[in-house]
Amino acid sequence: MEEKEPKKIIGLMSGTSCDSVDAGLCEVFPDFSVKLINGINYNYPEFVRKNLFKAFDGEISIKELCQLNFAVGKCFADAAKILIEEFGKPDFISSHGQTVFHYPYDAKIDNINLKSTLQIGESSVIAKETGCMVISNFREKDIAYGGQGAPLVCFADEKWFKNALVQNIGGISNVTVISDGYPTYGFDTGCGNIMIDYCMRKYFSKEFDKDGQTASEGNICESWLDCLLQDEYYYLNPPKTTGREYFSQKYIESILKIAPDNPKDIIATLTALTAKTIAQAYERFINHRYDTVVVGGGGAYNKTMMKFLKSYLPKHVVLKTHEDYGISNNFKEVMAFALLGYCNYYNIPNNLPSCTGAEKRVILGKVTPAA
Ligand SMILES: Nc1ncnc2c1ncn2[C@@H]1O[C@H](COP(=O)(O)OP(=O)(O)O)[C@@H](O)[C@H]1O
Ligand SMILES: [Mg+2]
Repeated sequence: MEEKEPKKIIGLMSGTSCDSVDAGLCEVFPDFSVKLINGINYNYPEFVRKNLFKAFDGEISIKELCQLNFAVGKCFADAAKILIEEFGKPDFISSHGQTVFHYPYDAKIDNINLKSTLQIGESSVIAKETGCMVISNFREKDIAYGGQGAPLVCFADEKWFKNALVQNIGGISNVTVISDGYPTYGFDTGCGNIMIDYCMRKYFSKEFDKDGQTASEGNICESWLDCLLQDEYYYLNPPKTTGREYFSQKYIESILKIAPDNPKDIIATLTALTAKTIAQAYERFINHRYDTVVVGGGGAYNKTMMKFLKSYLPKHVVLKTHEDYGISNNFKEVMAFALLGYCNYYNIPNNLPSCTGAEKRVILGKVTPAA
């Protein structure tokens, strides 16, 4: 096998929140550690963001989706170019792309599997605009091998953490369970910020609940919370993943029909829902003792969410954030995809079947040459 060397890689990612394209210049080392040199959040132009939300709701035409693939590719390239202007070209770019649809179910028609996922952000556009090789489209191969194509970040978590539950709270929430003597596994615990963001927009004309301020001013409506906790997703056994296809605008509007009157109470209750579903997922699906939970993603900045989570976890559990480990809450996923790209480059399998359900370890990612 080729001798591994450190590589400078720009990781590119936009999650289900669609809040920004995150771009991080990383140095990835042969021991799989990753150092973030610099990271930026690049906002999508309004028309791109608008069309992405239309796509999430299944309300765009194939023509618009086709155009959106190239437009998102250009946005990802523009985000990378900001870093390239300051730091020069990396060895290559590793791009997650923007998920527009994720269908992790074992449905079949005529014995043809319909399990699938779609990340857009055309890699040819990124390669052309930046002059860099691009590694992208990590999820598809895991699905081709029978997995759910997610969560992929577990692979990085296993390299970076020991004996901890690594909890991401992005648009969706997912956990990686890392424990000596057990295989690492992970799954989506449920909604993260999607419903909070939606209601902040609807009731307060704000993009999100900064620091959990609005939630802190409301009261949890216990009866509504109990009702929301009955959703069948929370009872499914892992491996399991979810997304905006499930926690859709339609879903949110339907639960709002029985919501409390005060919008602040709605935000407080949805914040409690995310925290409670995380704690319940641990109770239901983790069979050994754990002492540390490490939170990352935008939800780590929501003080009310963190307070609720702390209160729902067993007393002895220590709640930390990625920043306690020197890893940015904001750029952790970008760093993870830089690592997945590094592994692809060196032909190292980079999925964890215990997390995705794939039948074997395979090398995820497709290569678009620089020229
Ligand atoms: N300071 C903050 N206070 C509260 N919530 C925040 C803060 N910063 C980010 N968030 C939440 O985190 C979300 C983005 O998280 P992120 O980890 O980028 O998710 P994704 O991977 O889905 O894009 C935002 O939409 C917002 O709801
Ligand atoms: Mg984001």
